[in-house]
Amino acid sequence: ATERTFSIIKPDATRRNLTGAVTAKLEEAGLRVVASKRIHMTKEQAEGFYAVHKERPFFGELVNFMISGPVVVQVLEGENAVLRNREVMGATNPANADEGTIRKTFAESIEANSVHGSDSLENAKIEIDYFFKPEEIVG
Ligand code: CMP
Repeated sequence: ATERTFSIIKPDATRRNLTGAVTAKLEEAGLRVVASKRIHMTKEQAEGFYAVHKERPFFGELVNFMISGPVVVQVLEGENAVLRNREVMGATNPANADEGTIRKTFAESIEANSVHGSDSLENAKIEIDYFFKPEEIVG
């Protein structure tokens, strides 16, 4: 089925001017960018977005990294978009990511791993709603 998922191009990627290169990988995977904006998250925004991880030992570092520079938040649309996006991103840790994936190609570390993508259709909806108003999404 046609789905929408949520993606973040993280500060390590925007810093290295890889917004277009990352987006090209998404498009090559059959995903369509139906909303996109470059933002610099506040601490509160990043903490709220990653609230499910707040008990993890890396939470503080993760939040600091995510506010260390601009990010590009995107809504991606396509057939099985949630799974497709996860496949093209590759494993969280770039050391474990398959050849050709975004993280294998571009990521610096498990934290500075270039992209975030929703892990389920349910979370995709929550995450899209966290950053986008309905009228900002143009399918
Ligand atoms: P993301 O998909 O954005 O979801 C949570 C993020 O936490 C993850 O990508 C990584 O960037 C980060 N992360 C996960 N595990 C670790 C870890 N062990 N150390 C540091 N950061 C991590």
